[in-house]
Amino acid sequence: LSAQRTTLRDVRRMLESGEPIPMVTAYDYTSALLADRAGIPMLLVGDSMAQTMLGFEDTLPVTVDDMVRHTAAVVRGTERAFVVADMPFMSYQASISDALRNAGRLLKEGGAQAVKLEGGTAAVGTVRALAEAGVAVMGHLGLTPQSVHQLGGYGVQGKTSSAARALVDAALELEGAGAFALVLELIPAELAQEVSNRLTIPTIGIGAGGACDGQVQVWHDLLGLSVDFTPRHAAKYAEVGETVMDALRSWADDVRHGRFPTEGQTTHIKESLDLGPTTLTPPE
Ligand code: KIV
Repeated sequence: LSAQRTTLRDVRRMLESGEPIPMVTAYDYTSALLADRAGIPMLLVGDSMAQTMLGFEDTLPVTVDDMVRHTAAVVRGTERAFVVADMPFMSYQASISDALRNAGRLLKEGGAQAVKLEGGTAAVGTVRALAEAGVAVMGHLGLTPQSVHQLGGYGVQGKTSSAARALVDAALELEGAGAFALVLELIPAELAQEVSNRLTIPTIGIGAGGACDGQVQVWHDLLGLSVDFTPRHAAKYAEVGETVMDALRSWADDVRHGRFPTEGQTTHIKESLDLGPTTLTPPE
């Protein structure tokens, strides 16, 4: 009997029973399989793959084709997790028909169960159109990395009363438009608490304090794979980067000193090797 995949009904049940919702990014088959086996109920194929997987400076270069390819790999790696795919920069901002077509690709070709898109009041019409078309949509407020150039960096958002009020209004509008959950990124804990109290849908925080209904973290930050930099809002639960480098150094050392392969990695033929006369003449 195959495991049952998590649905939005399960997510709602978690919210109603006050069970905090853990969510982590996953970008490929192997990491998705590990997260699924670890019992993580929600995975985000984040456009942060631009930096974590593809080595770009920001999330802007990621394409819908990239997202579809990686989402399909994540879905293949999972049996139980609810998989949300990010809509990349300019795949939904220009028109509602773009948004519908590209969300459709993430669901039909990628196999995602939901999409996430960034933005406040400006995104409300798009969220409504997607929800009316039967797409489960997650909103994303606070620090919205696709607007990094407009925001002037990756700083904390919603720090003034007017910015906080605008964020609360946008959160209520997104809920009204049919969003099933909201990511709140890098905002003061008090504001995240206020938003969480006012909404009936779950808030999933990252750098937004402990009062959100769930928490999302970037795979590489959580596991010590962001080798040169870990943001303040991330706690390292493992040093996988160090472990990988140690293992690679040991293996390379064994190769250099003739200790790899051993008999354990080697096959032999039973009889003595007799290839007969060779027909090839060696080059002059
Ligand atoms: O792309 C991403 O990883 C995200 C999370 C930071 C929420 O959007």
